[in-house]
Amino acid sequence: MAKRLHIKNYGCQMNAYDATRMADVLAPLGYNHIAQPEEADLVILNTCHIREKASEKIYSELGRLRAIKDARNDAGQTMMIGVAGCVAQAEGAEMLRRAPYVDMVFGPQTYHRLPEMIARANRENEIKNNCGRGVIDTEFPVNPKFDSLPMASSQGPSAFLTVQEGCDRFCAFCVVPYTRGAEFSRPVVDVMAEARDLVDAGAREITLLGQNVNAYHGLSPGKGEWRLAALIEELASIRGLERLRYTTSHPRDMTSDLIQAHRDIDILMPYLHLPVQSGSDRVLSAMNRRHTAADYLAIIDALRDARPDIALSSDFIVGHPGEGDEDFEDTLSLVDRVGFAQAYSFKYSARPGTPASAMENALPENLKAARLSRLQDLLNQQQARFNKDCVDQVLPVLLDRHGRADSQLSGRSPWMQAVHVNFDGTAVTERAFGNIINARVVSAGPNSLAALPESGSEKSGKELAAL
Ligand code: 5AD
Ligand code: SF4
Repeated sequence: MAKRLHIKNYGCQMNAYDATRMADVLAPLGYNHIAQPEEADLVILNTCHIREKASEKIYSELGRLRAIKDARNDAGQTMMIGVAGCVAQAEGAEMLRRAPYVDMVFGPQTYHRLPEMIARANRENEIKNNCGRGVIDTEFPVNPKFDSLPMASSQGPSAFLTVQEGCDRFCAFCVVPYTRGAEFSRPVVDVMAEARDLVDAGAREITLLGQNVNAYHGLSPGKGEWRLAALIEELASIRGLERLRYTTSHPRDMTSDLIQAHRDIDILMPYLHLPVQSGSDRVLSAMNRRHTAADYLAIIDALRDARPDIALSSDFIVGHPGEGDEDFEDTLSLVDRVGFAQAYSFKYSARPGTPASAMENALPENLKAARLSRLQDLLNQQQARFNKDCVDQVLPVLLDRHGRADSQLSGRSPWMQAVHVNFDGTAVTERAFGNIINARVVSAGPNSLAALPESGSEKSGKELAAL
């Protein structure tokens, strides 16, 4: 029987990937995804723990869902609520205590067991008149979920593929090693099979995902282990695959073979998200990052040597416990030195259970806020300059979305910028998605570029419009 599923996703790209895979697991049970929770038979919140007050935000969202669930029950219908992801992993049984109307709590490593969880929760509800005890599954199973997931369904022209999960780096501020568990790499053959499925289903670009993706060390067909560079080389041989990316990386795992891959593999896009977090060696050491600012700069130099047009992105935390004025100035100088195409920056906030949360030299909020705004001003200026330098350039754009107007389609440049391509007033349809079109940039905003199709492009605007 057809059932309606609504998944609300929070957080990183790995969560976005997990959400698509949950839908894949549930499709054989008859679940179709719908855009709103009101009519859904099953609502799943796929949560993220990285941001401040993550659990409180989830509890208030659950309060809203409870009202919908009660109304549905009053009308003689049922609605199940599942909480997935890192908040579920961290809260476990506490979540069912605080929100007893939740039917299932499960972590990022167990969603392949959703059919079983749903059956168990249904049984509970039948016995207890729609308020069963709820099912918890927050284990780290011995057999990884990847062994049990069905074939990946289409994600469109730009797809995510998780190749590595968990993290053994234990940065002092970070909750990931506790919620996602120990590091695990998927075997090469499994990654290749999923990549081929995605390309057969229309993907032209694949982004390899992992919490620490460049620590990848998957079992190879010859039984040895391959690092990420070898995996990328193998993936590059798939016919029809035009673009490869990977995220997120740790500077310590930026090995020379991976840097060389940026020179040698042309479908590896000239863009890298490489979090540095701070430009101060003192703070980097307190963060347990195990690299210095100079190490980071040396990696950037080597990357630019290998691929001169590479654009760089990063994550920054300001106001980590113990960060002094000079430490913060060191971060600004590192940003000056590198010149980022874009970046994410956050105020430090304590995550329960992490070593940094027990550090005594916490900074006041107003100081953190003032530093964040200075850093963001600088990063925004760099991003605006990077975008402005693209004006008049012809860039290949992988079309994968509708634009704001009928005659506009959008996509990404090799450097991850959103590019809105205007097709001259001609209506273009989603049949053009998946094409890489050469487009001349006519103007640049802080977060996107506007462009016109270039004549002599692989497919002209008119041809695309005729599709
Ligand atoms: N406080 C602020 N930012 C954090 N991040 C991770 N943990 C914290 C924290 N406790 C940021 C880091 C990381 C990104 C995904 O989130 O910059 O790279
Ligand atoms: Fe967290 Fe990334 Fe550090 Fe791992 S490497 S602990 S995921 S910040």
